[in-house]
Amino acid sequence: MEMTIIHGQGHLGSTYHVTDMLREQLAGRDATVHEFFLPKDGPDFCAGCFTCITKDENLCPHADKTRRIVESMMGSDIIIIDSPTYCMEMTGQLKVLFDHLGYMWMTHRPRKEMFAKTGIAVSTTAGAGAGKVTKSIARQMFWWGIPKVHRLAFSVQAMGWNGVKDPVREKIARKIESISRKMKAGKYRPRISQKFIFHMFRKINQQPNHWNPADKEYWERNGWLGEARPWK
Ligand SMILES: Cc1cc2nc3c(=O)[nH]c(=O)nc-3n(C[C@H](O)[C@H](O)[C@H](O)COP(=O)(O)O)c2cc1C
Repeated sequence: MEMTIIHGQGHLGSTYHVTDMLREQLAGRDATVHEFFLPKDGPDFCAGCFTCITKDENLCPHADKTRRIVESMMGSDIIIIDSPTYCMEMTGQLKVLFDHLGYMWMTHRPRKEMFAKTGIAVSTTAGAGAGKVTKSIARQMFWWGIPKVHRLAFSVQAMGWNGVKDPVREKIARKIESISRKMKAGKYRPRISQKFIFHMFRKINQQPNHWNPADKEYWERNGWLGEARPWK
C-alpha cells in the first residue's frame, strides 16, 4: 500500500502527531509513505495566470513542486491532508497548494486515478473550527473525484502536542482506531453527486464551441465524451 501525507504546516505540533498516529495505524509493514510539509515542499503563491486551466499545468511557473505532489498522490491508495485550524480556516500554505490543483477539479481535467482513492482530512484546534477545516479539505478532494473522504477533527485544548491532556489523547486514539478499522481503501464507488457533476461537464465538453479547448481535448482523449468513464 502507498500513502501520501500532505501536512498543511511545517512544524511537528498536535496536527502532525494526530496524523502520525493515523499513519501508524494504517501503514502495514510493507506500506510506503510519502510525506510533504508546507510551505517547504509546496508551490509559491498562485500567480493567477490561468495557464494551468486554459493551457497546461506543466507550464505553471511553480509546476515542479506541484507535479511532485500530484505524482505522489497518483501512485497512492490513501491521501491524508492535514492542517491546524487558523482563524477558523485551513492554513494559508495549504490553500496555496489547493489553488494550484484547481485545474484537476471535475469541472476541468480530473485525473481518473482519483476516482479510486480514499482521502482523509485531519485538523486540530484549541477550541473550535476544526470541523470546518476538515469540511473544506474534504470539499477539495471531492472535486478532484475522490469518492470517500474520512474527516478527523479534534479540539485539543492546547497550543502544542505537549499540552494535550491524557483524556484528549485517549479520545483521539480511540477515534483513529475506529476509523482505521472501518476504512475500506480502494473499495468506494463514486458518489451520485460526483456522477451527476461528471455528466454535466461531459455535456458541456461536448458542445462544439467550448470556452476551454484544453479541457475539451482532455475529455475527448480520455474517451469521456463517448462511453468511457473515469471509474470502474
Ligand atoms: C494563527 C493561529 C490561529 C488560530 N486560530 C484558532 C481558531 O480560530 N480557533 C481555535 O480554537 N484555535 C485556534 N488556534 C489554535 C490552534 O488551532 C490549535 O492550537 C491547534 O491544535 C494547533 O495545531 P498544531 O499544534 O498542529 O499547530 C490558532 C492558532 C494559531 C497559531
